Amino acid sequence: MDLDAIINNQLSERQRVHQYRRRPVVRRIDPTHVEIDGHRLVQFASNDYLGLSFDQEVIAAAQEAMNAHGLGSGAAGLLGGHSPIHASAELALARWKGTQGSVLLPSGYQANLAAVRTLTAIGQSAGKNGIQFLVDKLVHASLIDAVQGMGAPMRIFPHNHLEKLKRRLADAPAGQLQVVVTESIFSMDGDAADLRGLAELKQQYPFVLLLDEAHASGVYGPGGSGYAAELGLREIVDISVVTFSKGLGCIGGAICGSDAFCQGVVNWGRPYIYSTSIPPAIAAGLEKGIELIGQNPHWQEQLRQRSRQLRQGLAGRHQVPGLEDCPIVPVILEDEQQAMEVARLMREKGYWVSAVRPPTVPRGSSRLRMTVCARHTEKQVGELIQGLKQVIA
Ligand SMILES: Cc1ncc(COP(=O)(O)O)c(C=O)c1O
Repeated sequence: MDLDAIINNQLSERQRVHQYRRRPVVRRIDPTHVEIDGHRLVQFASNDYLGLSFDQEVIAAAQEAMNAHGLGSGAAGLLGGHSPIHASAELALARWKGTQGSVLLPSGYQANLAAVRTLTAIGQSAGKNGIQFLVDKLVHASLIDAVQGMGAPMRIFPHNHLEKLKRRLADAPAGQLQVVVTESIFSMDGDAADLRGLAELKQQYPFVLLLDEAHASGVYGPGGSGYAAELGLREIVDISVVTFSKGLGCIGGAICGSDAFCQGVVNWGRPYIYSTSIPPAIAAGLEKGIELIGQNPHWQEQLRQRSRQLRQGLAGRHQVPGLEDCPIVPVILEDEQQAMEVARLMREKGYWVSAVRPPTVPRGSSRLRMTVCARHTEKQVGELIQGLKQVIA
């Protein structure tokens, strides 16, 4: 059996249905510009919402830690890879999120895996009916992979459909631990979980809330501490997942929760236990990022203002009801082919925007996904709107 021939067959099929993926080589120049094939483009495709990956103070903090402690951490957290820099960053994260503790992981993907793995291990030993995950249909692949990979009972509820969720909670067998899994800001639509509705539901039916704050961290809430904090609903969240790869401009993730849950992660969260801890430079960089976000609330204001400008400028074409001031702005297009073509034409006009197709988004909802950065100017956003209108027309 020729493995490559099998793969090539499958890849041809992907090409036929316009779902073939390839990685362009993109050189980032600054938070709002990239260079591709020798062309300088205005960037509207990065999750570095505050431009922190280029911030000189963040870079200096990371460099200092790297010079003092080396490039890699050298071991998993349980075997010597948990340095004072890691411990300090975990404290800063917990303070930021208002939780008792936090645990750093090499990626947001792994943070979700470790959170679900820990919950499953705990839930399965807690009672005879074990655990059930109730998952919003549009959550990130890492959460779906995590729950599916554990083989734990899972029921998907339609996006933000709290009536359905309520029925599932009402039908659950007595003594079974219910875990509701959702995202505060949804990565592809730029809309929000109905956290107020979840707060009410939680009063009627007890459940554990696992909230992925990947796209809200740095963007919403006091000091960028997240969307639950923005709504004053921190206390309804039992486990909060933060990714550093977006608003914090680096890489990695964290699980924030009670001391007990964090100890649970260290004992049962295999993606934590069996992975080398993040480089000290990253831990130092993200701690500096949190500090700077707190000191510079105008970054958040600027980001949300520019996001509003883009969303309002594209009103009518934008068919996903999202948050007005969310930096994720999708424009739904006819199909995969059109999404690719519009992205290509935008590139010709000097813009780098992403075309997102199934299976990343549901069939029939191929889109351009544009993301705003606090460092975009009003002029850059205005010109993007004009350019896109011309291309779509
Ligand atoms: C909602 C959400 N959760 C988790 C992740 C994974 O984060 P990371 O890229 O840090 O692994 C992503 C991003 O890719 C995401 O959008």
